[in-house]
Amino acid sequence: MKSIPLILMGCGGVGRQLLQHIVSCRDIHALNYGVRLRVVGVADSKSLLSVPDIFTTELDDHSVDEICRLKSNGSSLSSLTSYGDYQVFSNSETITNITEVASHLVRSTGLAVVDCSASSDTIGILQKVAEMNGCIVLANKKPLTSSMEDYDKLVLHPRRLRHESTVGAGLPVIMSINRLLSSGDTIHRIVGSLSDPRDDLGGMDVARKALIVARLLGQRLELDSIKVESLYPAEMGPNAMSVEDFLANGVSQLDNSLADRVEKAASNGNVLRYVCVIEGSRCEVGIQELPKNSALGRLRGSDNVLEVYSRCYSEQPLIIQGAGAGNDTTAAGVLADILDLQDLFT
Ligand SMILES: NC(=O)c1ccc[n+]([C@@H]2O[C@H](COP(=O)([O-])OP(=O)(O)OC[C@H]3O[C@@H](n4cnc5c(N)ncnc54)[C@H](OP(=O)(O)O)[C@@H]3O)[C@@H](O)[C@H]2O)c1
Ligand SMILES: *[C@@H]1O[C@H](CO)[C@@H](O)[C@H](O)[C@H]1NC(C)=O
Ligand SMILES: *[C@@H]1O[C@H](CO)[C@@H](O)[C@H](O)[C@H]1NC(C)=O
Repeated sequence: MKSIPLILMGCGGVGRQLLQHIVSCRDIHALNYGVRLRVVGVADSKSLLSVPDIFTTELDDHSVDEICRLKSNGSSLSSLTSYGDYQVFSNSETITNITEVASHLVRSTGLAVVDCSASSDTIGILQKVAEMNGCIVLANKKPLTSSMEDYDKLVLHPRRLRHESTVGAGLPVIMSINRLLSSGDTIHRIVGSLSDPRDDLGGMDVARKALIVARLLGQRLELDSIKVESLYPAEMGPNAMSVEDFLANGVSQLDNSLADRVEKAASNGNVLRYVCVIEGSRCEVGIQELPKNSALGRLRGSDNVLEVYSRCYSEQPLIIQGAGAGNDTTAAGVLADILDLQDLFT
């Protein structure tokens, strides 16, 4: 049986679901792949819990359940100081410890560091792991949307990095784009609806996803140079208007100003969609007029939809569509990424 040691950073909705998927998939992994995922450490924002011997021991399933229970009650991992044989390191020791663990494991069996946090503070650790030739799996978009300099350090060994869940959650977006690129197809244009605007009225979450895709296509771009059209004007921003006032008065004003644009689009046989557009050296996020009978035009509800136009998919674009959020699908995407790395482990 091949063992894949892993350290999980981030134990929120996605991280906990991942731990649960790992436990419930043990039989599938063993029977179908001859693989066992061995969780050697779990970190939250304040501490790292790790096993006493990183080469032979692992967090057993009972401890994993206990960690999930504790974290979903809002407690900190540091409250587990006296828990079994495990060691608990404070935040300031975490970087040193993960780096040390990584340097030992990478040289022997290999190691996967999985980032399910929503923080930029993990970037330093991830860069060290990449430098040591360790494997990295991300649900967290921030490490890939920091400066180009940080990005280059992270993608040092592209075959050891997986981040399918950073764009469209479990949908095979990154994988599909990579397959087009590796077969020499040229991608001209990608238009995508990548979030539920109710959660992201300012558009920053979509901007990060657009940046990840644009960088994948070779654009050397910084986050602050992406043109982002916010769905509300500055005077309705979180610092200028209360949520109550926004819901009571702001939203109806927004509806009025958008109604004119909707009408104008309709007279051209089009509809308005809040999308990212990546084309040539252009990468922007905002409201676009799109044909009513396109995949994006037909979009209802909260699905994510991506239209990819390339040499092979010129008239009829490649369409990727489905639920683009949720702890379960996101964590499943992360788990599939980890399994996809299995051949790199001994
Ligand atoms: N949920 C989705 O549908 C979805 C879809 C696609 C991608 N994602 C991405 O997946 C990631 C996780 O989402 P989530 O909803 O699970 O977030 P969440 O519930 O806010 O959980 C974040 C976790 O990260 C931990 N954390 C913060 N800083 C850390 C650090 N420096 N080192 C290690 N851990 C740290 C937090 O610790 P504490 O517990 O101590 O606060 C918390 O456990 C995010 O980046 C999100 O954008 C989510
Ligand atoms: C994801 O997990 C978080 C934290 O447990 C929870 O608050 C949220 O409702 C979950 N989201 C979904 C869509 O289940
Ligand atoms: C890191 O953790 C491992 C395993 O728990 C332990 O053996 C090692 O001494 C720790 N290293 C540091 C620098 O704290």
